[in-house]
Amino acid sequence: MLKSIVASVLVFVGLAHSETPPGFTPEAVAHLDVIFGTKAVSPPGTSLTKADTQKQPTIGTSDTILNGTYPWLMMDLDVPASFTNPSAGPRRTNLHAMITGFKSTGQKTETGINTLTSTATGPVKYVGPAPPAETPPHAHRYVELLFETNATFTVPQSYVQQTLGFDLQAFVQKAGLAPPVRGNWFNVTG
Ligand SMILES: *[C@@H]1O[C@H](CO)[C@@H](O)[C@H](O)[C@H]1NC(C)=O
Ligand SMILES: *[C@@H]1O[C@H](CO)[C@@H](O)[C@H](O)[C@H]1NC(C)=O
Repeated sequence: MLKSIVASVLVFVGLAHSETPPGFTPEAVAHLDVIFGTKAVSPPGTSLTKADTQKQPTIGTSDTILNGTYPWLMMDLDVPASFTNPSAGPRRTNLHAMITGFKSTGQKTETGINTLTSTATGPVKYVGPAPPAETPPHAHRYVELLFETNATFTVPQSYVQQTLGFDLQAFVQKAGLAPPVRGNWFNVTG
């Protein structure tokens, strides 16, 4: 009885604190701190500008130190089918970064974030958001995810070569990844 109450409370808390956009799968329920210069992506879904987000952000965690090695990715969910005629078809994804080898730096920022860093810059180098202007304006959602991996993990290259239309579900399945350990997201409007 107590167990099932605890379980339902946990499920409730998990749903109430999703760190990925509504309906997004695989969902992340634990917060990844993402800081662009002095601007923290907090709460998840915060609006930022193109200028804010052109440099790769600092990432980390406030609640604990992560002791593993993690790939991190960022993707746009809202690329229009056609820049001249956005309603020509369904919106697509674009992979803006896929960087492996993130590890704890052992350091904290002034605001108490245990930072993660990587010496890698790929396999997909960070590209800042550049959503096109649309009428009416359309906010693009940019999702950041951190995955748990083991020593045998390698990025299935063929899944990240073409960044436009990046298929996260297929990638996760091919790489044998569990749901992301951390996530966050923000909006930029062109
Ligand atoms: C990482 O290691 C530190 C020090 O041993 C520990 O306090 C922390 O809980 C560990 N983090 C996780 C996520 O297990
Ligand atoms: C590492 O992870 C992959 C994919 O999740 C899995 O197939 C493999 O068995 C794991 N290897 C070890 C040594 O745990």
